[in-house]
Amino acid sequence: MLEPHTFLCQFQQAFALVGLRRNAVDQVHLLQLAQRHVQRLLAHAEQFQQLLHAQGRVARDKKYDALVHPAQAAAFEHFIGFGSERLVAEEERLHRLLLAALVFKVKHVDVSIQAVVISVNQFDVFPTGFATGDLMAFSERVTRLKSSLIREILAAAQRPQVMSFAGGLPAEAMLPALQWEGMPLNIGQYGMSEGEPQLRELLAAEARALGVPCQASQVLVVSGSQQTLDLAAKLYIDKGTKILLEGPTYLAALQIFQLFGADCLTVQLEADGPDLASLRTNLERHRPAFIYLIPTFQNPSAVRYSEAKREAVAALLDEFGVTLIEDEPYRELTFDGGSAKPIVGRLNKASWIYTGTVSKTLLPGLRVGYLIASPDLFPHLLKLKQSADLHTNRVGQWQAMQWIGTQKYQQHLVQLRSFYRERRDAFQAALLRHFGELADWQVPQGGLFFWLTLKQPLDTRTLLAPALDQDVAFMPGEPFFSEPDQHLGSLRLNFSHIDPSRLDEGLKRLAAVVCQAQHAQAA
Ligand SMILES: Cc1ncc(COP(=O)(O)O)c(C=O)c1O
Repeated sequence: MLEPHTFLCQFQQAFALVGLRRNAVDQVHLLQLAQRHVQRLLAHAEQFQQLLHAQGRVARDKKYDALVHPAQAAAFEHFIGFGSERLVAEEERLHRLLLAALVFKVKHVDVSIQAVVISVNQFDVFPTGFATGDLMAFSERVTRLKSSLIREILAAAQRPQVMSFAGGLPAEAMLPALQWEGMPLNIGQYGMSEGEPQLRELLAAEARALGVPCQASQVLVVSGSQQTLDLAAKLYIDKGTKILLEGPTYLAALQIFQLFGADCLTVQLEADGPDLASLRTNLERHRPAFIYLIPTFQNPSAVRYSEAKREAVAALLDEFGVTLIEDEPYRELTFDGGSAKPIVGRLNKASWIYTGTVSKTLLPGLRVGYLIASPDLFPHLLKLKQSADLHTNRVGQWQAMQWIGTQKYQQHLVQLRSFYRERRDAFQAALLRHFGELADWQVPQGGLFFWLTLKQPLDTRTLLAPALDQDVAFMPGEPFFSEPDQHLGSLRLNFSHIDPSRLDEGLKRLAAVVCQAQHAQAA
């Protein structure tokens, strides 16, 4: 008897349940079911049993065998078939095992004229022990939900002895203290989906000062700029929708866009912005639904687009009429004083969404961000916001209002920049000591990250476990690409959060892990 685990390991091919439509009477219960109901029907062992019995009746009708293995020429008595001949031979035994030990995640139900085909992949088969509650009733899109590597690494890095270069966290020392005096009591009441009117005015004024032509009516306060990406994904992405992203790009953007089924195309990043030839080709050939860019101190690469590239990108998007989503959480964290007009402010025709946050300058725990959208997009985003969470938390919005547009905020930003500049410099010095022979990098002029490219590439995901064994956490570079396996050999290192007294030791240990892996690879 195969154990469930062995079964999962051996079960390399997809298999399918096929219901021929010839026997209208016996098939009708299947065909009348919506795809989702079929999924639900197959979701639980007991319901599956019911289906089995129903089909058993059909199967007894020799004239119209109802469900057959697709690879079988002749109709088959049993209604589950497997993708390999050997397994077909063991069909009945495995069938029993499946019912006893496993449940299915039905991947795809194709109700065609000829047949109902329910295909199930090896990854859609779970031992019942893992199938809690209504797992099998989850939506089809959940099969695409990847866990965020960064969340997992951060969880592992919770141990106090761990030296973490992994997250994008502000330094604790620079989190401003919250004041509660003067907060109106009715702030606890429900608020407007658009956000607090005064905050919208303040944000619109700030954006206009940067060169984004907008009114407060175009500002939507969101629960962190991550929510902008969620709303945009809902607005634009169906399964297979083509979108264009920088390579590398923000991990959690990939996560949400892929969840909704996007076909993520990549435009390569150069030191001063995207490769323009590749951008033009992608726009021309694929007409993506939108392009998502982080032009100022990009996460993870720290790239800041040049003036020329900003202009060129805007011109191309106008030419092809492709919507721009411009994400700028790091704009204010500039170390050389440079500040460039956002790309959305350079567009003449294309639709756009500009998004920012207080997470990197004030407190990420407030969960206050904003989006500003071109007037054609705003009403749709507002409705999506309403259906997502009614409105962003008003206490956080009130706190943000105590800062945005004030002198106090400007002073805080000056301190923040100088604090992070010092950390950047210390990090650069330590990197030169430990990684000079191992990697190449640009010194970031802002933001929170160094992006290292190993001189001798290897899959940096394999370094994670040995690094954590040495109490060091970092972010492997591969997951920042939609095709990770084609981009081996980069690391993202956060320099803002680590205690300077532990910086040198942390990088020393990480370099040793890299060296060891490279020697092992060479051997
Ligand atoms: C590029 C980028 N966009 C969005 C976010 C999300 O920020 P928020 O805390 O505002 O949701 C981050 C956070 O790290 C980020 O790096």
